[in-house]
Amino acid sequence: MKQGLFITFEGADGSGKTTQLNKIKTFLEDKGFDVTVTREPGALDIGQKIRDILLHCEGNVSDKCEMFLFLADRAQHAETFIKPALKEGKIVLCDRHTDSTVAYQGYGRGQDIELLKKLNSIAVDGLTPDLTLLYDIDTQTAQQRIIREKDRMETAGIEFHKKVRNGYLELYKENPDRIKLINANNSIETVFEDTKKIIIELLKRS
Ligand code: TYD
Repeated sequence: MKQGLFITFEGADGSGKTTQLNKIKTFLEDKGFDVTVTREPGALDIGQKIRDILLHCEGNVSDKCEMFLFLADRAQHAETFIKPALKEGKIVLCDRHTDSTVAYQGYGRGQDIELLKKLNSIAVDGLTPDLTLLYDIDTQTAQQRIIREKDRMETAGIEFHKKVRNGYLELYKENPDRIKLINANNSIETVFEDTKKIIIELLKRS
């Protein structure tokens, strides 16, 4: 695997995707793969500052400001972290990426979807996930799973989160080769088995 593999984890807040990402990290490392875990927003120094504004700003953040901040974080992350890691042959597991922006800022906030897709492609400049795992879950169940204090995005309301879920399902319909749908209503172990099967398939093809 000379070029590495780029795998993104997507889904609602409370879908359990981060738990699965960590389990897959251990699974792959046990098999001897060189794995790097990262996330958006906020993997790097600049991103951490952007993340703080996005998730914890108490003043008004306009929808366009929010959109550009997520994209700015992504541009920096793709160029200075993800691409170099892939060149070194690593498997990069990324908690959220381009699809989050289309689902949250596009379908959720109502920003122009096609424009967002273009802006995403400018931000990442040729970087596309080899695989995207989409953890789909009933919106009510997902919201109930978040027991810690909710951040700015998580308090956006049930209707917003329903739109985000529908957005993700639209993206899945448009990209069935790249995006694999996983039923995240199931137990952690069942979801992990489903995730592993898809990852093993990808490894066989790579
Ligand atoms: P985070 O705490 O990382 O949530 P999670 O553990 O659910 O991934 O917060 C990221 C929040 O930012 C989450 O609510 C989704 C949102 N988000 C967007 O709205 N657009 C984006 O492009 C990205 C990357 C995240």
